[in-house]
Amino acid sequence: MAAKRQPRLINRKAAEAAGQRDELAAGLLAPAAHISPKFLYDSLGSRLFSAITEVEEYYPTRTEAGIFISHADQIAASIGPGCTLVDLGAGDCAKARKLFPTLKPARYVAVDISVDFLAESLDYLQFRHPEMDITGLGCDFSSQLDLPDEIGESPRVLFYPGSSIGNFTPDQALDFLRQARAASQGGGLLIGIDLVKSQTILDAAYDDALGITAAFNLNLLNAVNRQLGANFEVSNFRHIAFFNAEQSRIEMHLEARHTNTVTWQGGERCFVAGERIHTENSYKYTVDRANSLLNAAGFRFTRCWTDEKGWFALFWATD
Ligand code: AVI
Repeated sequence: MAAKRQPRLINRKAAEAAGQRDELAAGLLAPAAHISPKFLYDSLGSRLFSAITEVEEYYPTRTEAGIFISHADQIAASIGPGCTLVDLGAGDCAKARKLFPTLKPARYVAVDISVDFLAESLDYLQFRHPEMDITGLGCDFSSQLDLPDEIGESPRVLFYPGSSIGNFTPDQALDFLRQARAASQGGGLLIGIDLVKSQTILDAAYDDALGITAAFNLNLLNAVNRQLGANFEVSNFRHIAFFNAEQSRIEMHLEARHTNTVTWQGGERCFVAGERIHTENSYKYTVDRANSLLNAAGFRFTRCWTDEKGWFALFWATD
């Protein structure tokens, strides 16, 4: 009997752990406490994010999926078959998997900070696509996008869906896009970007009635407890999310319900009642601003598809 094909897994997480603990402690001790949104994605957080994409109020995932369906032929013709599809922030790999039949990639490389969740997702994907050459890369690519040489020679298409670019500040986004352009080695970037829309729709998308987004945000404290050895009590905090129109971004915070002190090895902080920990920004762009950002990063040619309501944009950007 032929051996079952296994996805290759490259795990850089252990090497990153000490730096991430320092980063967490520094954020908690900052005058305005903050935790990077990348820490939202432990195994449970990744599952909660998958659940968010199914709630009624969270429009980005299904709107982006609709754009892929409506413009599948044009997207596939722009990119061409046989690429190495590099999925940045792959999570459950659901978005990329839906593209396989139209894009026909030669290879799939899934990159994610949540390595255990990624490994499980890839086992399932390999089972469903035994013919596909699949590699997983477990790492934090938010500050440095460094792809291993062994992912191969065919044109690299970097796939960055879901408007994850919105979780960077505009300056960080520019830096990240420059790195993405270099990493694509002359291939291209297929990127989903969420657009500015009514405040009511935006606020609801980040504070759904079922409380899934609240659970996703609060679970960050469990992740910090594990990674930093801290003793956050989840029940001492509440989820806050709102659209900051001046900055064109959703902000998520965790607000202390009452005064409480949190300790970890080498540090402690007292959060007074009402004090907030800033946990995520999700910037919303206009098509023009998104285009300018891509151009500023060095992508000379862009193609853009949007949905009928103009809520979300998908860009194909090349040199
Ligand atoms: C992954 N990222 C693009 C999501 C967003 O919309 O900013 C994360 C998220 N946060 C709350 N809901 C979803």
